[in-house]
Amino acid sequence: MAEGVITLTIDGVPVSVPPGTLVIEAAKQAGVLVPHYCYHPGLEVAGVCRMCLVEIEKAPKLQIACATTVTEGMVVKTQTVQAKDARQGVLEFLLINHPLDCPICDQAGECELQDFVFQEGRAATRYGEFAKRFNPVEDFGPDILYVPNRCILCTRCVRFMEDLAREPVLNVSERGDRAFVGIHPDARLDHPWAGNVVDLCPVGSLLSKDFLHKARAWELDKTPSICTGCSQGCNISLDTREEVVVRVRPRSNLEVNQYFICDHGRMHYPWMNRGDRIEAPLVKHNGELRATDWEEAFDRVVTILRGAAGGGKAVAIVSPGASSEALALVKRLLSGFDWKGAFQVVMGDEAPLPGVPNLALRAERVPNAKGAERLGYTRDYAAALAAAATASVVFVLDDPDCGVQTAGALIYAGTVLPAESTCRNADVVLPIANVAEEEGTFVNRDGREQRYFPAKPAPGMAQPAAWVFGELVAAMGLAEAQR
Ligand code: FES
Repeated sequence: MAEGVITLTIDGVPVSVPPGTLVIEAAKQAGVLVPHYCYHPGLEVAGVCRMCLVEIEKAPKLQIACATTVTEGMVVKTQTVQAKDARQGVLEFLLINHPLDCPICDQAGECELQDFVFQEGRAATRYGEFAKRFNPVEDFGPDILYVPNRCILCTRCVRFMEDLAREPVLNVSERGDRAFVGIHPDARLDHPWAGNVVDLCPVGSLLSKDFLHKARAWELDKTPSICTGCSQGCNISLDTREEVVVRVRPRSNLEVNQYFICDHGRMHYPWMNRGDRIEAPLVKHNGELRATDWEEAFDRVVTILRGAAGGGKAVAIVSPGASSEALALVKRLLSGFDWKGAFQVVMGDEAPLPGVPNLALRAERVPNAKGAERLGYTRDYAAALAAAATASVVFVLDDPDCGVQTAGALIYAGTVLPAESTCRNADVVLPIANVAEEEGTFVNRDGREQRYFPAKPAPGMAQPAAWVFGELVAAMGLAEAQR
């Protein structure tokens, strides 16, 4: 027996886990998913749904896997007739009252009741009475609807609000078959982290108004990404339907955001679908920007850089939402210049999730300020803008509202070009992909480097900024230069 490790078998598979591990978690390591509803690894154990009943050798009766800790030599069996019968009974009771409205339910396709009934439920009900019926739907908060008829009373939402958000506005009201999740009459589910109750709900009882009827679960493609709403760096999934981002959900990362994201991050995506994008490189001819191909655009940038090199001054005004790769390549491109790079940070109010240490919507509302700083960019935005006025070359990376003015050459790489932007004065405009359309890394406030992936294609000829600057670095013969 290894020191500090408990060895047990689950459905015949031996596993070794640390002492104190719950049987349901040990089972995951054996590749066994014990059906469950009230259990969630990010919440306190409640043991109320009885869905996780399993047989444990030498125990006089079935045990709930979510509240039983492992012991040395334990033998767990999840597939015995007795265990399956018990779980089938739980499912049969749940389905007495749960409406079979899956065809119009947002949760269909990712509903744990659907999944476990399909996996091991009875083929038909034996219940001949009418099911309980509540109000069809209740408005719980700015983005949350409650459908009480679908509720299986697992209490995950109640425990989240009480233990993690520390705003106990939900409860289980009434008892027996009249029980439902109630909200305090004077309260709204408007805590900055309240949206997590929708993810936690194993059925379609708590729904997001924003996502309501936007897509069926099986139509969605899910791409691992990093939230750009602040510097916390929460791990997220960008859910797309037909190349449009329609939902943002948390991905678990125990070191950063556990299982949660805040509502600001959850809603920080419509801009990823903007239609008013720059779709082709633009080059100035006779004072006017004209669409062209990448080759001519690169030629023009190279001509500008070669003409200005040799002691010239360069300034880079960059977005702290750009990838570290793009920022590193901009810096390398300007390595022959006396250069200065800066970014601006939008600030807001900090909103912690009190029950989870070191997790908050951070005041700094950008994802990669730390990455930019590591590369030598500074927060001295005003000084960089002032220096731009007399610089021979100015690069602006996805900051169209910077208001930059310069007597030198201006090169703008961005996703959009608003009518009032001074970047319309650029000599060259390079269309780039946004965060949902490229691969890259951000460095969060704690210095953790995290990677994100493309969820949809970039429009027209737009390309990832790292590709654009990589091509320019190569064209300038700087590929081997030191970073
Ligand atoms: S998951 Fe174990 S009792 Fe609910």
